[in-house]
Amino acid sequence: MPQLNCIDPREQVIEVTFDPGETILQAAHRAGVGGILAECGGGCSCATCHVILDGTWDGTIVEPSTQEVDMLSFAVNPTPHSRLACQVELSDKHDGLSLSVAKRQY
Ligand code: FES
Repeated sequence: MPQLNCIDPREQVIEVTFDPGETILQAAHRAGVGGILAECGGGCSCATCHVILDGTWDGTIVEPSTQEVDMLSFAVNPTPHSRLACQVELSDKHDGLSLSVAKRQY
């Protein structure tokens, strides 16, 4: 099963398996990764599922929608590699993807 390497806000690395088609949010929540609040439940309307992807994976992940870009402007200290975990759908090619959960979600 493919997996993600998630670094939670306490710098703990958690290996998270996922099914292709799941979002980062779904996989991380199932695995109990801390720090992702996801207050809107995955509706791209809260920006409290902010994660920072490892930049070496650029080009393998679908670009954010206009709505996601708008919501990321409300995230705390967004970076060029910031994404909303509820908006990134995973596939087999993302096996080994590393990401950090934002230290603060609001
Ligand atoms: S869960 Fe609210 S924007 Fe992702």
